[in-house]
Parts: sequence; C-alpha cells; structure tokens
Amino acid sequence: MFKVKTFNQISVKGLERFPRAEYEVGSDINHPEGILLRSHKLHNEVLPESVLCVARAGAGVNNIPLEDYTKRGIVVFNTPGANANAVKELVLAGLLLGSRGVLTGIEYVQSLTHLKDAAEMGKLLEAEKKRFAGKELYGSTLGVVGLGAIGSMVAEMALALGMKVVGYDPALSVEAAWRLPSRVERMENLQSLLSRADYVTLHVPALEATTGLINHDTLKSIKPGARLLNFARDAIVDSTSVVESLNADQGLGMYICDFPEPQLLERKDVIAMPHIGASTAEAEENCAIMAADQLMEFLQNGNIKNS
Ligand code: MLT
Repeated sequence: MFKVKTFNQISVKGLERFPRAEYEVGSDINHPEGILLRSHKLHNEVLPESVLCVARAGAGVNNIPLEDYTKRGIVVFNTPGANANAVKELVLAGLLLGSRGVLTGIEYVQSLTHLKDAAEMGKLLEAEKKRFAGKELYGSTLGVVGLGAIGSMVAEMALALGMKVVGYDPALSVEAAWRLPSRVERMENLQSLLSRADYVTLHVPALEATTGLINHDTLKSIKPGARLLNFARDAIVDSTSVVESLNADQGLGMYICDFPEPQLLERKDVIAMPHIGASTAEAEENCAIMAADQLMEFLQNGNIKNS
C-alpha cells in the first residue's frame, strides 16, 4: 500500500484520480521512498536515506540539486508538457500587452476615478484615445526560441493568430521536429531569428548553455523596436543588456517578463509580473497527477516515465 503524507487538501483531492493506488493519507512516514515537490528546495543533506526518487511537479528542475541526487542514485522526474498550455496562454497575454495599449489605457482610466461626471470622463477618454493605439499581431513575425513542448504550442497558437513564425532550437529532437507545423520557418542561429522577429519569446530551460543567451552581443541583432518575452527562466536573459538595448535607438522596444528586478521596474517599456506562467488550477493539477504517476510507476514497477 502507498502511504502518502500530504501537506494540503489539493494533493489529497488529486489522489482520488489514482484508482489503482491504495493510500492512507496523513500517516507518518519515517522512511519515504518517493518525494513529490513543486518549488521547494530539498537540499541533499536533509533528504532521507530511504528516498529512491523525486518528482518535480513542473518543467524546470532548478530547485533540485541534480548532481548530488545523481551521485546518490536517486531518480529525478519532471513533468514536461503538463503545464505547457498555461504558459502558452500567458504568452498570448504577453503578446497582447506588448502590442496594444491595454495597460496604459487602464492606467489612464484609473487616473480619472476622481471624476464624478460621466460626460466629462467620456470627453477626456475620446480626446486621449490616440495615445493608446496599438498594432495588430496578425501579419507580424514571432520568433520562438526553443521548440519543445511549450515553444511548439506557442508556435501553433501564433500561426492561428495569423502571425508568421520563425523558430530556433539547436537541441531539437527528431520527433519534436516532425511535430512542428511546416509553416514554422527554422532559423540556423539565434542572430537570424532576432533580426527577423517583431516579437521574440523564449522557451528554453536554464542550463549552462542557455545562461545569458540574450546578452549584449546577441541583442545587437535584434530587430529595432522588437518586443522580447521571457516567461521561461530569468537566467536566460542578462537584464543589464536588456536595459542597455531598451535605451538604445535601434534596440529592443519592450521587455515583457515574469521575473521582475529592481532595475526593470518603473520603466514604461518593461511589463513585469510574478512568475505565473504555470499558475493555473489546471496546470497545477496536471503536473501533480503526472508527477504522482511517475513516482508510482517507478516504485511499483521500476518503470521510468518522463513524459
Ligand atoms: C515550470 O518550471 O514548470 C514553470 O516555470 C513553473 C514554475 O516553476 O513555477
């Protein structure tokens, strides 16, 4: 029987989705064999000896000390794709925030809350409307960096919006390349993508090879006025170079991300929000269920399922 120690009601509810598991909730487990976590950092020193596997309910594994765990022979799972749709939908929000005067328009309306007269408000709004005019996404070009589970969904969505899509992924697997819509034009390098795209969205993991991928040098190739979206990982973008490019005449037009940093705040050309790409009820449930399934499959049958 699986004994499960849970910390909240959501995970207890999720367990009902596993009819083949018998479980006892809330029992004290002194020698856990599997651990499922989301964003906690579980340092090697505090991980019980009995642990055989750890599953992260999410795509990135930056909160897991992989090297230490690997040395101990602990199998680590993540849940690629389980929250891809949620991230894709936030990219849609990012694209719209970057193309239309939504935020500035709302900010202006809120600045009028002191007015009591609707006609006066209407007059002001009409007079100022031009300030919030935007540009349509239809017909513009989206550059997708990283064409895995999230990037390929984003590419499909952009095509459906009537955008042209260029993509770059040096580590693209043959299967992923087959799945990619043929209308996605593959670029040979990041520079070619940056010079073509009106909007650039990043969907690569934080690895040594991707740390600072967007930096002073790569930003030299950016199409003037392009909007850069980063809902992936903060380490991929060197934010000092972003600020430099935003300040330059022919540089970036806007940076939209879910990694706020002091030097980015108070800029009109930065839209920063908390790291909420995967924060939907559906994505959290999908990730939790996939991670629980991976742990059970491994502990019961010795199978490693990482998709
Ligand atoms: C992920 O890695 O799954 C997402 O970035 C969500 C998160 O870590 O909170």
